[in-house]
Amino acid sequence: MRTIIITGVSKGLGQALSKSLANENTNLVGFGRTQGEFSGTFHTCDFTKPQLAYSIFQQALESEPIEESESVIFIANAGRLGLLQPIQNLDPFEIEETIAANLTHSALAAAAFVSRVESLPIPKAFLQISSGAALPERPKASWSLYCASKAGQEQLVRAIAKEQDTADNPTTFVNINPGVMETAMQEQIRNTSPKAFPDVEHFIKLKEEGRIPSPDTIAAEIAKLLDNPSSLENGKTYNIAQ
Ligand SMILES: NC(=O)c1ccc[n+]([C@@H]2O[C@H](COP(=O)([O-])OP(=O)(O)OC[C@H]3O[C@@H](n4cnc5c(N)ncnc54)[C@H](OP(=O)(O)O)[C@@H]3O)[C@@H](O)[C@H]2O)c1
Repeated sequence: MRTIIITGVSKGLGQALSKSLANENTNLVGFGRTQGEFSGTFHTCDFTKPQLAYSIFQQALESEPIEESESVIFIANAGRLGLLQPIQNLDPFEIEETIAANLTHSALAAAAFVSRVESLPIPKAFLQISSGAALPERPKASWSLYCASKAGQEQLVRAIAKEQDTADNPTTFVNINPGVMETAMQEQIRNTSPKAFPDVEHFIKLKEEGRIPSPDTIAAEIAKLLDNPSSLENGKTYNIAQ
């Protein structure tokens, strides 16, 4: 039996991953504000409340019999774009919550996960669902908090990968860039005014031309990577983008 833990399972890529990875040999554990159709063990958790989220992670991971698993994978998938507006239009709550739901969520997840599994000599991996928005050459107007959070998540993973290089029972840390997918996030992007986001036409065109894959297509590619978690390369970014 393998254990797979996923954040943000109610919709989008998290829901698609949950469906794609579910089988009789998988113990699925999910976190998020809402459960949706998630069929594994679900823990209600709002990542805009970091202290509480950390204790929910700790208690949930403690209660899982990971010692008996053949491998354990954590997928940090939950995320939010936040309000798409120039920085001067964002209030402190929006700034705090968007960074918490993205970057702080990943740091908490990594801390709770490594602390729970560091003594276990089984294949272990932490996958960060990243984005093209993390790349230095792809900043976008009105996406400052999202771009900064995704770049922060990627570097967080690379820095922890360095720590794991010298760990006794290392966990493999990787970034996964899924590319665009037809989820609620894309809908939010297309509904932004061109005044706030001058590139909005590009995303509308992608949709009109049928160039946005479904989250199921992307989840199937990620699931293939997880068939053999020992083959994942610590610190690497995997591009799934179609
Ligand atoms: N869609 C794209 O084109 C695209 C492209 C590149 C990268 N990504 C990345 O892919 C990942 C998944 O995105 P998606 O497109 O599937 O988005 P989505 O459909 O909006 O789903 C986001 C998930 O995150 C959870 N979430 C959001 N805020 C949360 C909070 N405060 N606390 C707990 N959970 C929260 C949501 O669950 P609840 O609302 O139930 O809490 C939901 O399950 C994200 O990391 C995103 O950055 C997406």
